[in-house]
Amino acid sequence: MRVHVADHPLITHKLTVLRDKNTPSPIFRSLTEELVTLLAYEATREVRTETVEIETPVTTTTGLAISSPRPLVVPILRAGLGMLEGMVKLLPTAEVGFLGMLRDEETFEPKTYAERLPDDLSGRQCFVLDPMLATGGSLGAAIKFLFDRGADDVTAICLLAAPEGVAALEKLTEGRDVKLVLGTVDERLDEHGYIVPGLGDAGDRLYGLV
Ligand code: PRP
Ligand code: URA
Repeated sequence: MRVHVADHPLITHKLTVLRDKNTPSPIFRSLTEELVTLLAYEATREVRTETVEIETPVTTTTGLAISSPRPLVVPILRAGLGMLEGMVKLLPTAEVGFLGMLRDEETFEPKTYAERLPDDLSGRQCFVLDPMLATGGSLGAAIKFLFDRGADDVTAICLLAAPEGVAALEKLTEGRDVKLVLGTVDERLDEHGYIVPGLGDAGDRLYGLV
């Protein structure tokens, strides 16, 4: 697994506001969208392209276009949904599939409760969105799901990660072509499986308590 941690003052500034418990949902949502657009720049560095010939008003030249099959963006519900708009702004021709996952707050085991993805992902480049990588269970299960459907290249984008989650994901994805793009890596997980210092429950902060 290749890990890229953003090191940019604008990202750190936006994450600082996101972490603040007094930041209300509307601002939390718009910052989440802005952050994913910044991270998507790095995450799409290896997006597959093909050479195309075009005519400018002056001459004929060659350029690049996103190649087929189109990339697939997969937000992990709920919290990953908050990252979708920011991602498709940068990759407007991508298709979108959905995975609904809920972590059991006692065992930390992820449970998949919804899935709307193409049956065959052969040859597809996939971009998974989830703001939080805590124990790594949810993201690990989501990535396995995509590889089991035939995906051969998966990039995950998370705003915050715990070192424990990065290590767990490394093991879960051994031998696979996985890239992980992170806003930052925090200190640790607490006994409830929350990232410290973190930002609390990302789904609740985006959408309110269920
Ligand atoms: C959160 C988060 C991740 C998961 C991370 O979702 O969005 O999906 O927890 O934890 P893990 O790395 O230990 O698996 P949650 O299960 O709270 O669901 P929600 O998005 O509906 O709030
Ligand atoms: N899920 C969250 O939303 N926040 C955490 O800190 C851990 C898991």
